Amino acid sequence: MARKKIIAGNWKMNKTPSQAAELIKELIPVVKDSDADVVICTPAIDLSVATEMTKGTNIAVGAENMHWEESGAYTGEIAADMLLDLGVQYVIIGHSERREYFAETDETVNKKVRKALEKGITPIMCCGETLEQREAGVMAEHIRMQIKLDMAEINADDAKKVVIAYEPIWAIGTGKTATADQAEEVCALIRETIKELYDAPTAEAIRIQYGGSMNASNAAELLSKPNIDGGLIGGASLKAPDFSKITNWNK
Ligand code: 13P
Repeated sequence: MARKKIIAGNWKMNKTPSQAAELIKELIPVVKDSDADVVICTPAIDLSVATEMTKGTNIAVGAENMHWEESGAYTGEIAADMLLDLGVQYVIIGHSERREYFAETDETVNKKVRKALEKGITPIMCCGETLEQREAGVMAEHIRMQIKLDMAEINADDAKKVVIAYEPIWAIGTGKTATADQAEEVCALIRETIKELYDAPTAEAIRIQYGGSMNASNAAELLSKPNIDGGLIGGASLKAPDFSKITNWNK
């Protein structure tokens, strides 16, 4: 069965709640005919306005992070139940910016992915290599290690629900997109790793996105590749005309 594409915006630390409302108003009419699942992942403070405004539309809302504990003394953190209460359906876990600036590790990523799955929130789990790792020839080992550690203790039924985002760190916000062939090669490697960890049906079912300077002009080529099931889009998701060109890549 063909996998449905999933196009997700990662707004990162951009847009106040009133700016979010303006952007969502522009987005609703221009992404409505997409053949993909359309998701906007917004700063936590925008989630309330985002879930409210997208009710009854084809836009689902995601958070950019969450904590793995139920509740308690974790100042500044957000629990899965809080996201669920608003109607948040997705959560980005382990983005390279969180790993780099906020000390996230494969262990905490794994705890968060497991919590999201337990709660019925779809995790968009990020992996990707640095330029140094790529140039040293250890890209494949690094990606395989991340996938194995981040998916630890997750059964095949749950694994099928995870969305994996392959984001080469050297391509994020740099304007340097991986070529479609480079992106396809690593997405295929990720699928192969899932097959080894689980089985062929799980590998066939799981959706793998590419992220890193994906934009209105390169999206169609990237999305034409057999192992690329969508995109996780930073900069280009902040402009409705650009994001809608990506969500309508096939039109
Ligand atoms: P850019 O699209 O701005 O390169 O960001 C990619 C990204 O990190 C999405 O999560």
